[in-house]
Amino acid sequence: MSEQTRVRFEVVDGIGVITVDNPPVNALGPGVPEGIMAALERGEADSGVKAMVLMGAGRSFIAGADIRQFGKPRPAPARRTYDVLDQAGKPIVAAIHGYALGGGLENALACHYRIAVPSAKVGLPEVNIGIIPGGGGTQRLPRLIGPKAAVEMIVSGRHVSAAEAKTLGIIDEIVAGKDLRAEAIAYARRVADRRPLPRVRDMTHKLAAAASDAGLFETVRKSIARKARNQKAPYHCIAAVEAATREPFEQGIQTERRLFSELENSDEARALRYAFFAEREVTRIPGLSKDLVLPEIKSAAVIGAGTMGGGIAMCCADFGIPVKVLEASPEALAKGMQRIRDNYAISVKRGSLEQAEMEQRLPRIQPVDSYQAIAECDVVIEAVFEEMAVKKEVFAKLDAVIKPGAILLTNSSALDIDAIARATRRAPQVAGAHFFSPANVMKLLEVVVGEQSAIETVAAAMKLGRAIGKISVYAGNCDGFVANRSRAPFNTEMNLMVEEGASPEAIDQVMVDFGYPMGPFAVSDLAGLDISYASRKRRAAADPGYRKLPIPDRLVELGRKGQKTGAGWYRYDPSDRTPHPDPEVQRIIRETALAMGIEQRAFAGDEILRRLLFSSVNEACKILEEGKALRASDIDVMWLHGFGFPRYRGGLMFWADRVGSRAVCDQVEAWYQRYGARWQPSSLLRDVARRGGDLREIKSASIQAI
Ligand code: 3HC
Repeated sequence: MSEQTRVRFEVVDGIGVITVDNPPVNALGPGVPEGIMAALERGEADSGVKAMVLMGAGRSFIAGADIRQFGKPRPAPARRTYDVLDQAGKPIVAAIHGYALGGGLENALACHYRIAVPSAKVGLPEVNIGIIPGGGGTQRLPRLIGPKAAVEMIVSGRHVSAAEAKTLGIIDEIVAGKDLRAEAIAYARRVADRRPLPRVRDMTHKLAAAASDAGLFETVRKSIARKARNQKAPYHCIAAVEAATREPFEQGIQTERRLFSELENSDEARALRYAFFAEREVTRIPGLSKDLVLPEIKSAAVIGAGTMGGGIAMCCADFGIPVKVLEASPEALAKGMQRIRDNYAISVKRGSLEQAEMEQRLPRIQPVDSYQAIAECDVVIEAVFEEMAVKKEVFAKLDAVIKPGAILLTNSSALDIDAIARATRRAPQVAGAHFFSPANVMKLLEVVVGEQSAIETVAAAMKLGRAIGKISVYAGNCDGFVANRSRAPFNTEMNLMVEEGASPEAIDQVMVDFGYPMGPFAVSDLAGLDISYASRKRRAAADPGYRKLPIPDRLVELGRKGQKTGAGWYRYDPSDRTPHPDPEVQRIIRETALAMGIEQRAFAGDEILRRLLFSSVNEACKILEEGKALRASDIDVMWLHGFGFPRYRGGLMFWADRVGSRAVCDQVEAWYQRYGARWQPSSLLRDVARRGGDLREIKSASIQAI
């Protein structure tokens, strides 16, 4: 598309209307800034044009710079739209609908007026991709709304509603009418003769406020210290806004540019860009035609009102889908409904949910007492006890009553989807929907594809996931599916390293330093040690060669089940949740190691990190090799949203590429020699390493046909 067609210019009633038309989100890709500048020049040169409007075609104003261009060599632009807008002699009105983000908002800030429809969102989210606003946003926004509000917006990167933007002073007027273009033209006509032109760059009175709030930037730095550890962009955002309060505009722009270019190619920015695109790639199912008509999902049913079932019902209600909840007994149903009410009440108390919103959501969840009552639901999500016989019974009952064409999903985290589907006469409509706990909080949803699951079922389940705020990821049917299977070796290694002499607190510290919000042992204590204890017992009973983990077994047998019992891997005071290292645990570890004949030794932090993560990288390669995941980047998305992997490290496979596939493979080979079968290298890992390739680029060739 040429720049002329990406940006249109027309004159209506003496107003030059500049329309950016670069689908899907009007990003400022090649040709767009040039098109805007060419249109501005035409408007300036045309004496019949009294004022101009800048707006976007389609669903948005402008969603920002074209992220795909970052990190690529490109010539510095001779001129920038922001400067041309600043120099304009005629009033320019930005008319915002959809999103004005990043460079989009920065262009709007360089206009003289901004109006928006009520549903519009504005923001400077650059920090989320590891950079800072680079189009003057860090200099203009503090001038317009004051440094305190500006630094908060830029460091958080959050989207701000039109109403809040009006209160802050970003938007001059919210237009209620349906036709934004007509409203904007009328607005431009009203301001056409007003002089001087209000240029944000010249507004300095709000900057003075910063002088009286000397500690502002230090306070912000302190407030982000925990969350922003290991990252540069949030601090550069603060430095850039601080420069706005100390330096004249042009110098501040130079500072912003310098800080921006320090970040564009940083590890953190590359990782965050990768995560952004991986999250969008994950929605694509190969072979899925755009024309495929998916079953509509307007109503849902959840079987089981336990912690998982209740959480899933809340997800539906939170996103406007009416949901019926069925339980085995009236008591269990009443208990489950009470838990749902309590969870909502806690959110209201914490201030994260409005009372009025809770009152809208609760009635969407309807307890029912028979299968007949859910017969007409479009989707059923089963979340009963994790036992094959129970699941089969539920699915047989569903098969008997649920309307034809409805989708039947099981929230199993480990059982064979095909066996569950065989309990029905409609296996094509059956798939897995593996939510992570707590289901109303965790973003990841694994959609598990059975041998006979129809592509419509899979696509509809993924779409349902997105409709209830989840990141849906395709997963093949295998033991543990993709997320937990790729994570399992990590869990084994953390326990084996403890036997060998690395303390739980040392391992936790390494992972927290790496960027996890909590260490894996502290997480186990939070989740409860009894769950994995039970599954180890099951596995040991089924497999005589199963490698037992005597230390966590012993902890559970001593009643140390984690936070809920005041002790697990750590000791907890009754009043708080802070984990305290416990000499009793150290004693148990030493004794057990001695009894097993394992010599304890010291571990370096790097060895701990590599043993945990390389074991999972190797397993992820095996999963891809078997065609159980579509892409390595899908596994990364799972680690980001299911396991708290630090986003600024991209994901498991992206991180492994930073180490290098060759180095990872060499180490896996060495540990295979030393520790045996569990480190057997994946042949795919060997192949990629041999040719010096990138693990994150792996796409499954043999993905099972769906
Ligand atoms: N650059 C390139 N592509 C972009 C893009 C951007 N800024 N924003 C969105 N896209 C693409 C997506 O990759 C996706 O492509 P696909 O269909 O091929 O997968 C398509 O547009 C639609 O995007 P979404 O699926 O995300 O659509 P949604 O409607 O769910 O969300 C959105 C829209 C809120 C605008 C979201 O896309 C988003 O957050 N985009 C990024 C916004 C951003 O970070 N802007 C700042 C960029 S940096 C910048 O401006 C620097 C400046 O300071 C100089």
